[in-house]
Amino acid sequence: MPDPRPVRVAVLISGAGSNMAALIDAGQQDGAPFEVVLVLSNKPDAGGLAVAQAKGVATATVDHRAFGTDRQAHEQALDAALTAHDVEVVALAGYMRLLTPWLVGRWSDRMLNIHPSLLPKYPGLDTHARAIAAGDAEAGCSVHLVTEGVDEGPVLGQSAVPVQADDTPASLSQRVLAAEHALYPRTLADFCRQIRSL
Ligand code: GRF
Repeated sequence: MPDPRPVRVAVLISGAGSNMAALIDAGQQDGAPFEVVLVLSNKPDAGGLAVAQAKGVATATVDHRAFGTDRQAHEQALDAALTAHDVEVVALAGYMRLLTPWLVGRWSDRMLNIHPSLLPKYPGLDTHARAIAAGDAEAGCSVHLVTEGVDEGPVLGQSAVPVQADDTPASLSQRVLAAEHALYPRTLADFCRQIRSL
C-alpha cells in the first residue's frame, strides 16, 4: 500500500519567492501529494518570507553571513532546521548559494531545483540574455535533481517558451517565470507520488 501522507517539503529561497508561493498553493490543494511545511532563507530580508507567513507556512532564516567562509557550518544549521521540521524533500527555488558536497550528499535524490533554461543549455546565471544572444527560437525552464555540479543533475521536467523577435532578457524572464510556476508544482507532485510508492 502506498503511504497516503503528503510528503513534507521545505522550500529554500533567497529572494522574492514566486516559485515558492506556487509550490505552497499547490501543496494546499485537497489531495496534493506534498505539503510545504517550512520556508528557509539565507537572507533575513528575502521578500518570500512574508509571503510564506501570510499563507500560514512556518519560516526560518539562517543568515549565511553569521558563518563567514564556513559554508558547511551554515549548511549544518540549515540541515538542523530541516530535521526539526521532519522534512522529507527539499525544493530550491531561487536559492542563491552554492551548495557543498556535504549538503548535496545529505539530500541525495531528495533535493530538487528549478533553473530558468532548457538544461543542459545555459547552466549558471544570465540564462535569458544568453538564449537571446545565441538566437535561440526557444527558451524555457527545467526542474532537476541536485547533484554536486551546478545545474547538472538529472532533469525531471522541462517547459519550453518561444523567444519573440523583440524579447529582452526582462520580457523573456517574465514569460519563463510564468512557465516555472506551472512546471515546478507539477514536477514536484510527480516526484512525491513516486517516492511515496517506492
Ligand atoms: C527563478 O527564475 C528560478 O528559476 C531561479 O531563480 C528565480 C527565482 O525566482 N532559480 P522566485 O524567487 O521564485 O520569484
